[in-house]
Amino acid sequence: MKIDFANLQHQYQLYKKDIDANIQAVLNKSNYIMGDEVRVLEQELQNFTGAKHAITCSNGTDALLLAMMAMDIQPGDEVITTPFTFIATAETIAFLQAKPVFVDIEEGSFNIDASKIEVAITEKTKAIMPVSLYGQPADIEEITAIAKKYDLKVIIDGAQSFGSTYKGKTDSYLGDISTTSFFPAKPLGCYGDGGAVFTNNDEYAGKIKMMRVHGQNKRYHHKYIGMGGRLDTIQAAVLLAKLPHYAREIQGRQEVAEKYARALKSTVLAPQVKAGRTSVWAQYTIRVQNRDVVQAKLKKQGAPTAVHYPMPLHQQECFQYLEYEKGDFPVAELLAQEVMSLPMNPFVTEEEVELVAQQLIGL
Ligand SMILES: Cc1ncc(COP(=O)(O)O)c(C=O)c1O
Repeated sequence: MKIDFANLQHQYQLYKKDIDANIQAVLNKSNYIMGDEVRVLEQELQNFTGAKHAITCSNGTDALLLAMMAMDIQPGDEVITTPFTFIATAETIAFLQAKPVFVDIEEGSFNIDASKIEVAITEKTKAIMPVSLYGQPADIEEITAIAKKYDLKVIIDGAQSFGSTYKGKTDSYLGDISTTSFFPAKPLGCYGDGGAVFTNNDEYAGKIKMMRVHGQNKRYHHKYIGMGGRLDTIQAAVLLAKLPHYAREIQGRQEVAEKYARALKSTVLAPQVKAGRTSVWAQYTIRVQNRDVVQAKLKKQGAPTAVHYPMPLHQQECFQYLEYEKGDFPVAELLAQEVMSLPMNPFVTEEEVELVAQQLIGL
């Protein structure tokens, strides 16, 4: 048996007719930049998330940049975030010459530990950026309360969590601004790069729409410093074909997660979803000792695994200038040694789950 980690090929075959037709329609119209499909997709994303504004953009990294640019995050400002995430989260803060300030994570959810945020706030803090890691929202209510108390903004990096919910609302609806990524392997992926920014704030939405086209408010008139940050029409066409199936795919991922949890027969190994929220299971990530050995064992049986993420951000070479030290974020450092993601997509079979579990039980 050879298990496919994300199984994008199977998904394409399932929706091929609609995807091909949508791409062909763009080719026929040659409306490659900001074509009708982009506008229609944005409307559909608003319907799906409940957010007042959904603004598509070039990728999940630019979505974070656009969010912070709309908030006017300036050089020297501080943005509090987690050290246990993909580099883009903190990289974009640093790219704007603001300072990423890390706060350790919780063991159960892998997300930022809200109880440790307040001590990290200084006079320079402007925003808190929780990440909905592996598809599960962080403690948004607690974080929003802290933000209110100190007059800070909340940006949710929802690159991995499109469609997840917190007390019945999608995490695209929450925060001052929320973002996502449509990178192919993300729960809702396009066939190249793509992303979106969500907000209920009209002023931010107006700015972001201008900033993704070089700050332009009228052709060749530039109100803001912006970027070339549009979503390609072809990618919008792919997403439009996939979106109608997405709610069912989320359910499929949740069922696969339940199968893993049952098969692993151990709450120690299985990741926890906190009360009042749902995960879209971008990754099904467990903790193991001797990770290299376990990965090799699974590989031999045809089960691919991945490590998200082997090194916390405060230990990355590019962030040496922040002068963090080993031991500053012990939970993130420990989990970086132990985490391992199992094959996860809506099409993982019972048989595949069993095969993986057999290798893991009794470790
Ligand atoms: C947590 C997180 N933030 C941001 C990004 C950036 O998204 P993209 O790859 O679309 O630029 C990713 C994607 O890998 C991510 O996982």
